[in-house]
Amino acid sequence: MKILVTGGAGFIGSNFIRLCLQSHDDIEVVNLDALTYAGNLESLADVAGDPRYEFVKADIANRDEVNAVMEAHAFDAVLNFAAESHVDRSLHMGPQIFIQTNILGTQNLLDAARSRGVARFVQISTDEVYGSLGPEGAFSEATPVLPNNPYSATKAGADFMVRAACRSHGLDCVITRCSNNYGPYQFPEKLIPLMIANALEEKPLPVYGDGMHVRDWIYVLDHCSAIDLVLRQGKTGEVYNIGSMYDVPNIQVVKTLLRLLGKSESLIKYVKDRPGHDRRYAMDSTKIKNELGWEPAYTFERGIQQTIDWYLANSTWLENVRSGEYQSNYEKLYAGR
Ligand code: NAD
Ligand code: DAU
Repeated sequence: MKILVTGGAGFIGSNFIRLCLQSHDDIEVVNLDALTYAGNLESLADVAGDPRYEFVKADIANRDEVNAVMEAHAFDAVLNFAAESHVDRSLHMGPQIFIQTNILGTQNLLDAARSRGVARFVQISTDEVYGSLGPEGAFSEATPVLPNNPYSATKAGADFMVRAACRSHGLDCVITRCSNNYGPYQFPEKLIPLMIANALEEKPLPVYGDGMHVRDWIYVLDHCSAIDLVLRQGKTGEVYNIGSMYDVPNIQVVKTLLRLLGKSESLIKYVKDRPGHDRRYAMDSTKIKNELGWEPAYTFERGIQQTIDWYLANSTWLENVRSGEYQSNYEKLYAGR
């Protein structure tokens, strides 16, 4: 099987490529990535020499670049991980690049896949498209799509275009919607790696609002194993929710990290809330469990310890991604909070 993975230099894409190469001998992977601030080829340094792997620098929002890659290979499947993925950036730095990459970029891939007769298109989506939950219940695949921030609105827009390509043009598409991932190689703008990085330097840990917003945390390799299963066995036109049922308030996650790192809770700093901050996410993954037999393999306890160990052992990776523009962007996102 020859697959195109877009956004493979990012957090989840790089973990997915590594997992695919480890689990399947008969796979060839082309990684198409624009190498934005979130893309980092260091995350794939260990597989760069694998003859089954190739990297192409290209932008999914550029039709010509997408068509050129698609024409140079005969792909059996396209997996679209590429996205602008950070909610705070979509709020504070403007939605244009989110619309460009997440919606137009997805459409370019759909068009190219259709014209080249690609047999399967997997769209990596998110639980955020469902919006926010009240105190009870969990998102199912039948939950209405009601996104609340520019990032999730563009991911929802992309999901609808994928659905349309499937329904109107018969392209074989499947959509996965996963909850919050954590694990190795995550850019330290997201809650868990940001808190680990700040705690290691004894810097304040900025907790938004009252810290009681709930997220459902899944170890990245569990998400990747679910995507691999959906790629091979998912039913055309279906959506699959993926979550681990570990849904806890942010403050609990932050206190757990401080305890495991041996740092003081006095580092916690409550700051101004995120506008339109979704209060609670929780995923009902019954469908993928019953239909495809998927189960998460990692408890939060095991996954978070492995994540901390990874960041401690890979301080150079962390230092490198925090150099350059990281500091000025951090100031922009947290100014006035
Ligand atoms: P990330 O920000 O770490 O990586 C995104 C990657 O996409 C980077 O390598 C970047 O260079 C690349 N990219 C961005 N714009 C591009 C463009 N125009 N053309 C080509 N490449 C481009 O993101 P992530 O956390 O790995 O998320 C991957 C996907 O999974 C996204 O689609 C995201 O919406 C989805 N998702 C993420 C989570 C999560 O918790 N992180 C949960 C559910 C779903
Ligand atoms: O649910 C899946 C989504 O999870 C993905 O689609 C997104 O790409 C991914 O970024 C993530 O979105 P969140 O907004 O939930 O993740 P983030 O890590 O930014 O924030 C997690 C929670 O922690 C959220 O309630 C906001 C809060 N938070 C975050 C940061 C960065 C803080 O309290 N302080 C912070 O500094």
